[in-house]
Parts: sequence; C-alpha cells; structure tokens
Amino acid sequence: MMIISLRATISIAFSVAALAQPGPVLDYRFYKERVQPVFLEKRAGHARCISCHTHRIPPLVPLAKGAMTWDEAQSRANFTAWKQFVTPGAPMKSKLLLHPLAASAGGDHFHAGGKHWNSTADPEWRTLADWVNGKTLESRVVRVLQSNSAGDDIHVIDPAVNEVVGRITGTEVPHGVVISPDGTRIYVTNEALTALDVIDSRTFLPIRRIPLSGRPNNLDVSIDGAFVYVGIRQGAGAVDMIDAGALANIKSVPVKGEIHNVYVTPDGKFVVAGSIAASTISVIDTATQTLAWTLTLSAGIRPMAFTRNADGSTKQIIVQLSDFHGFAVVDFASRKEIRRISLPDPPGEHKETEGLQGSPSHGLAITPDGKMLWATSKHYGAIAAYSLPDCKLLTFVKVGSHPDWLTIPPDGKNVYVAVAGDDTTVVVDNATRKVVKTIRVGSVPKRVTSGWLQRE
Ligand code: HEC
Repeated sequence: MMIISLRATISIAFSVAALAQPGPVLDYRFYKERVQPVFLEKRAGHARCISCHTHRIPPLVPLAKGAMTWDEAQSRANFTAWKQFVTPGAPMKSKLLLHPLAASAGGDHFHAGGKHWNSTADPEWRTLADWVNGKTLESRVVRVLQSNSAGDDIHVIDPAVNEVVGRITGTEVPHGVVISPDGTRIYVTNEALTALDVIDSRTFLPIRRIPLSGRPNNLDVSIDGAFVYVGIRQGAGAVDMIDAGALANIKSVPVKGEIHNVYVTPDGKFVVAGSIAASTISVIDTATQTLAWTLTLSAGIRPMAFTRNADGSTKQIIVQLSDFHGFAVVDFASRKEIRRISLPDPPGEHKETEGLQGSPSHGLAITPDGKMLWATSKHYGAIAAYSLPDCKLLTFVKVGSHPDWLTIPPDGKNVYVAVAGDDTTVVVDNATRKVVKTIRVGSVPKRVTSGWLQRE
C-alpha cells in the first residue's frame, strides 16, 4: 500500500511534458528538401508560386541570377517566413494548404494566385500536410538540451535553425542532463527528489524515476548505453551506477569526497568523478567497477574535458578548479598535473566578482576534431578559445552575464553557451568565433548537452 501511494504521488508531481508550441515541430530539412521545391514547380495553366511571392506575403527570397533554387541562408529565411502560415498538426487550419486548394476540396474561397490543387489527395498537397504534421526526413535528429537550474524544465533547441522546438517539464531543479547513445532516452538528475528521471526522447514523457543514494549532481552514460553514472553530492561521496536495461540503481561505488561532476572518458574505459570538497579526481575502471586511482589537486574539482591519443585512449584531463580563472592540464598516463593556464584579464574590462559560486571559470568544451578548447569566464562574461594541444589563446568572445556550461553538437559547427545570468543560450560559430544567435530559455540555465535523439 505504502509503495502504491508513493508512486501515485510521484507520477502526479511528474507532470506531462509539454511542447513550447503546441503540436508537432516543423522540421527544417523536410521543409528544404520536400516543401520548398513546390514553390518552384511549374503546373500547367498556372503561374509558379515564386513568380508572385517574391513580392507577396508570405515572401520568398528572389533567386540569385542563374540559380535554380535557394541557397542555405535563403532557404532558412523562407522557412522562417512560411512556417508562420501553417498551424503545426493542423493542415486544414493552415493558410499555406488552404489558400491554393480548391474551395470544393475544403480550401479558401479565393487566392489571387489561383487554385493549384483540386484535392487533398494531391501528392504535393500531401507533402505540405506531412510537413505540417511534423514529418522529418530522418529517423533521428540532433538536439541541444538546455536545463534550467532554477526552473522546472529543459529547453529543446534544434541546432539546424537555432530555435526552441520543445520543452521537457516535470523535473524541479534539474541538475545534469545526458542523452543515451542510441538516442531513445534522456537522463536527468533530479536534485529536489534525489532521483534519476528517465525520459522517452520521442515523446518527452517520463518512463521511470529511480531513487539515488543521496542528492545528485551531474551524470554521464557509458558508451554502450548499459550504465548511467550519477555523482552523489552527499556524505562520503559516491558514484551511483544505474543499470539502464533494468532501470535499477545497482551499485554505489565509493570515491574520494562528495561528487560534483562525472564523465565517461571518450574511450569508455573510465569514469572520472570530481569532488569540490576533497579537491580530488577519482577514476573508476569501468571493467571492474571499482576505484582505480585518485589525484588530489590544490583546489576543488569543477568541470572537466578530455583530450585523446591517436588510438582513442585518454591523453589529458582539462580541469577547472575552485576560485581559479582558468584551467589545469592533467596527464592521464602519469597521473600528474602538468600545466595551469590562466584566462586573460583584459585591461579596462568590467570584472564581475558577484555570485561566482566559487568558480570564475566553469564550463569546457573541445571541438570534435580535438583542435580547439573553449573555457568560460564568469569574470568577463565571455568564452575563451584555445588551440590544442599547445593551449594558445585564440580569442575571447563576449556572450553575456555568468556563462556556465558549454556543448558542441556532433557536426562541430557551433558551441552553445548556457548564459546563467541572462536566461539565454548563446550560439557561437566555431570557425568565425562570433555570436550567431541568442536564444531565450528558462530560469538560470546551466548544464547543456547535445546529441542525436530518436524520432520514431
Ligand atoms: C499570380 C500570383 C500568385 C501566385 C502564382 C501564387 N500566389 Fe499566393 N498570393 C498571391 C496574392 C496576390 C496573395 C494575397 C491575396 C490573397 O490572399 O489572395 C497571395 C496569398 C497567398 C497566401 C496567403 C497569405 C495570407 O496573408 O494569408 C498563401 C499561403 C499563398 N498565397 C500561397 C501560395 C502558394 C503555395 C502558391 C503556389 C502553389 C501561390 N501562393 C501562388 C499571389 C500569388
């Protein structure tokens, strides 16, 4: 009885996930490859959409001289304009589908551009309807997940258009968020309820809430997806191991000090956990599931990132430290700190010293080619780029107040910065190293992650 009533309470507290906009998400790639060609198509006895709509609303960007279709930037502009003339999930409430459709088939009475389709069975009309109903070209899509540390939700960003396309609700004080390697699940540590929330990435609905041995912080998932590792920020310190198949907390591995961040090394062989209180990095061997070695540094262990040897094994741990505006470099083989690098102090710039939470530099990301490292600076509201492996400063980019975590999606094009003080996620181009977009998200955004999500 006790268990049943407890479960009931939990499922009520875990409210149903809601999308930021009601209805399905309009997919950009489907639009570009299937919908947009309709605007160029010549139908016998009809003028083409492009022949009028370069000067009509909804607007189409005029084609460049000699061009047969639109380029990427133009396609995105068209997408942004035309999606306002559809209601996601409702083709028969969408101007794009009703205006050129014959009135006898349920279309509008008049379109100054004429009636292009006599029936809703017309293949072109069906393509438009598929888009409005959220069809994608891929069974999986890349998403950036921005958790809001003072909120109760996670914003879902489509990096193809850099817009919020959904929200995952129901986890109060979400700490860390990761995506399973097969893209079917999202794991979120729930600080408020001392649990791991497991979410179906196709529906954004909860699957299970798994109790943890203590208040969690960050988490990571094994390369094969079999285990989720959760850092426990309570008591003597531990890393909880969750069996992802059985959805059960099977083991609490004792480590040195209460744990803030947990990472699986890129080769999958180790779990690296950092303790702020004990200033110690604990390295767990995933084969034996026991503590292999520890390294104590001069200050609390904050976010980490990993560089690789040519064979994929771990070369270095890049690690941020409490009260240090920079990062240290630890050689993984010799288990020693080999360098410490301070971020620049640009003269004349305002230096933020309030609310740093003991870490003036808290957030790291390495580009997929392993050639560049980004580190955040809360002092200067910026992110700094360093070349790897030589750690030379490349540039310093202003992003806003209290930048925190970073993520780089698999294509390596942009870095996403959680700007905690502005409630935004800022997108910076890795090649030009300039801000390309500022996206409004929830309350005090911190952990941010990215990866493939399964769609069907
Ligand atoms: C001969 C020129 C012409 C052509 C060709 C044409 N349109 Fe139009 N379209 C217009 C004009 C003018 C309007 C505004 C007056 C109206 O609503 O009928 C319009 C309005 C629209 C609207 C409604 C905008 C609103 O404010 O609600 C949509 C959607 C639309 N067109 C889509 C299309 C599509 C899709 C095609 C091709 C299949 C197309 N048009 C072809 C001239 C054209």
